[in-house]
Amino acid sequence: MFSKKLNEAPEGYTFDDFLLVPSKSSVEPKNVKTNTRISRNFKINIPIISSAMDTVTESEMAIVMAQEGGLGVIHRNMTVQEQVEEVKKVKTSGDLTIRDVITTRPDASISDANHLMDEEGVNGLPVVKAGQVIGIISRRDIMPIISTDAGRTVGEVMTEKVVTIKESTTPEEALDIAYENKVERLPVVKDNQIVGIVTIKDILERKKYPIASRDNDGRFMVAAATGPFDLERAIALDKAGADIIAVDVAHAHKPEIIEFAKKMNKEIEADLLVGNIATREAAEDLISGDVDGLKVGIGPGSICTTRIIAGVGVPQLTAISNVADLAREYDVAVVGDGGLRYSGDLAKAIGVGADSVMMGSLLAGTHEAPGDVVIMNGRKYKQYRGMGSLGAMTGGSGAGTDRYFQEVKGPMKHAKLVPEGVEGVVPYKGPVSEILFQLIGGLKASMGYSGANDIKKMQENARFIRITNSGVTESHPHDLLITNESPNYPTTRLM
Ligand code: XMP
Repeated sequence: MFSKKLNEAPEGYTFDDFLLVPSKSSVEPKNVKTNTRISRNFKINIPIISSAMDTVTESEMAIVMAQEGGLGVIHRNMTVQEQVEEVKKVKTSGDLTIRDVITTRPDASISDANHLMDEEGVNGLPVVKAGQVIGIISRRDIMPIISTDAGRTVGEVMTEKVVTIKESTTPEEALDIAYENKVERLPVVKDNQIVGIVTIKDILERKKYPIASRDNDGRFMVAAATGPFDLERAIALDKAGADIIAVDVAHAHKPEIIEFAKKMNKEIEADLLVGNIATREAAEDLISGDVDGLKVGIGPGSICTTRIIAGVGVPQLTAISNVADLAREYDVAVVGDGGLRYSGDLAKAIGVGADSVMMGSLLAGTHEAPGDVVIMNGRKYKQYRGMGSLGAMTGGSGAGTDRYFQEVKGPMKHAKLVPEGVEGVVPYKGPVSEILFQLIGGLKASMGYSGANDIKKMQENARFIRITNSGVTESHPHDLLITNESPNYPTTRLM
């Protein structure tokens, strides 16, 4: 009876156990499409999400992830209010329409208007009377007369003809209108009242990020993590504009969590991504709980010790494929979370059914990751730690201890905690956009070899070959001393 448990145990595989087999293909990597869905209602343009970890994703990371077509999940090791502010920073940073418009009045002096522009760092102000825009004044109007006629009123000097746009005007239309009328600023008007302002500078800035992940109102998309039973946090994040709420827990296959997720999903407008899980049965139970996306990964992470401390986990490729088998039937999105070391791993995760992947270590150490650069032995590093590490569970607001079903109590907080993660450093990597460029470049190359011109085809067409340890050795560079480090194959690995 006991021996059967071992004799009949299935095998589990991970990234290094397989390679993708090249297929007959006329697909050019430069032409492949990498857009994918992240949850039932949201799509992104590159299949990469940054982890909800306090050394990976706050607003700075989430903004760049969205600019580059991916998504950031703001971690929850902070107070609800702090996390709400982080979400708001992302939502407003990509918003073309400036909502808190600085305005002036017709009876203000031009010197006051000039001071206001200096203080606020703007070059023009709508002139408003009883909520209605009656003119616009810019530095160009003021500068020639400020030294001689500082007392003149804004009303006397302003341009009275104001070109306005509606909230529904698209950025392209706004740009045309601005060029046709030779204006730099377009007040946005609703029911005759000013509700915002759009500048040409911001429209052109926006063009720099053609594949950015945006919501229906053109704002950057952002996700935010919450605890499995933290409804108050979920509701606050939802109100702040988070597009996706990610229930962030080490073991989501629990009846109580599934029940609570149902309740949470009813209370919020955002999509609900729930994880982590690693089996088909867990997927079945969560899908019946009506979630919008599933996150897969128990213990594959570079900073995780769950598989060692608890002896629990499922190698990541097997876990993703088992969950994806079922999720595909129900049209639920799958995120493969953790364990990726190279761009090839991203391609393999998609090949076994992931719609996107979540990454911690590959994005940690970048300029946009929270934390300072430290110099050790002449090299630059940044901290990277597991959310189940002692440091993360006792630091910050301690909001993450329920991820591991633990509580911080008493004066010697750490004494009663059983960590499931470690703390360390990773090399400083510069801007995250460069890392994403390499990761997506590798994925596109893989899709070219596999004859897949989009993510769906990659999921369907990818074929795998099982390899041995000698195959892994043969796969890496061998029999030379690497003299020039490659941007997508770091040789200064720490582990
Ligand atoms: P990578 O391999 O990308 O993995 O660094 C990041 C993912 O690991 C998970 N995570 C943890 N898992 N103990 C764990 O068992 C931890 O302390 C821990 N912290 C993060 C998480 O899913 C993340 O996205």
